Amino acid sequence: MSSDLSVKDLDFPLSIAPMMKLTDRHFRYFMRLITRYTVLYSEMITTFALLRGNRDKLLAFDPVELPLVLQLGGSDAQSLALCARMAQEYGFSAVNLNAGCPSPKVQKGEFGIKLMKNPDFAAELYNTIKNAVTIPVSVKHRLGIENKVDYEQLYRFIERLAAAGCCHFIIHARIADLNTLDAKQNRKIPPLRHTDVYHLKKTFPGLIFELNGGVTTLKEAREHLCKTDKVMIGRAAYADPYLFANADSFFKPGNGLPPTRRQVIERIIPYLQKQEAEGINPLSMLRHLMGLFRYTSCARAWRRYLSESVKSNKPVDKILEHAQKGLPSEILDDRARLSLS
Ligand SMILES: Cc1cc2nc3c(=O)[nH]c(=O)nc-3n(C[C@H](O)[C@H](O)[C@H](O)COP(=O)(O)O)c2cc1C
Repeated sequence: MSSDLSVKDLDFPLSIAPMMKLTDRHFRYFMRLITRYTVLYSEMITTFALLRGNRDKLLAFDPVELPLVLQLGGSDAQSLALCARMAQEYGFSAVNLNAGCPSPKVQKGEFGIKLMKNPDFAAELYNTIKNAVTIPVSVKHRLGIENKVDYEQLYRFIERLAAAGCCHFIIHARIADLNTLDAKQNRKIPPLRHTDVYHLKKTFPGLIFELNGGVTTLKEAREHLCKTDKVMIGRAAYADPYLFANADSFFKPGNGLPPTRRQVIERIIPYLQKQEAEGINPLSMLRHLMGLFRYTSCARAWRRYLSESVKSNKPVDKILEHAQKGLPSEILDDRARLSLS
């Protein structure tokens, strides 16, 4: 793979959201074969896991994944600072503080969304992290935590963090209703309020706002970019990874042709073989490829071939060869079109 894939450029306006159990290093490597500039995020890693667990397993990544941001979850300033320093040492491009996760476990640990309740405390944590590293530190949060947006509280949160040195806010543009909805419902039920993010940008023009939530096409992303600085896409990236095939040429013109799906498959084989040789279970990697043919006529066939082949205990290269065999070359060799719809 060419060395220019290890770009460290964080300026690209598009990113793929941190998602637990989804955005692991194998998924990120796969996405990097589709888009070389989109900023990638790790799953949230807690300070508890990092300080007590297998650091290498949690932090190791392939340099082609860069630009890559480590998302941290935690509420102890010194632990967060230590973990941010580790991220820097391992070569991450930036660190992100999770201030939006509404899961009960996270709330119990007094971090994630709980940080929005206490802007002064969040700012103190931010400040400690910021002082521990030289790489950028951003914050990902929601619009609020009650059943309607409390603008005073939201603006206070932004102001306190900005005063502590934060200039990049990633906003999942919904509230999280902590009283009546669980974590999964909180990703779907509270209505999206993209215009609130646009207002924040107007109110604080010197800060960077990254809009997140419900974006499913590059065309939509481009529309949001007229009123915000950046856009982050989560579930649609996992469900339809090839959506990103045009991202480079669209947001950084002059980037040549997007890869075909066949090229993506061919290029991931050596990586998967290497990982398999190191003992990684093929299923844990191949599951990330399931959406590669989404919205084509062979989406189901691909998924079926992949899952059946995995059960056969064949090596990954044979699994992918087998899975490809049943697919028409018009689709395998088709390139994403710049229709952006
Ligand atoms: C399975 C799953 C896991 C997630 N894990 C995280 C996480 O670790 N950290 C985080 O900040 N957000 C997490 N999120 C939220 C996403 O980052 C994103 O904010 C949310 O899905 C809204 O964006 P979307 O509509 O583009 O998916 C997760 C979402 C999903 C679906």
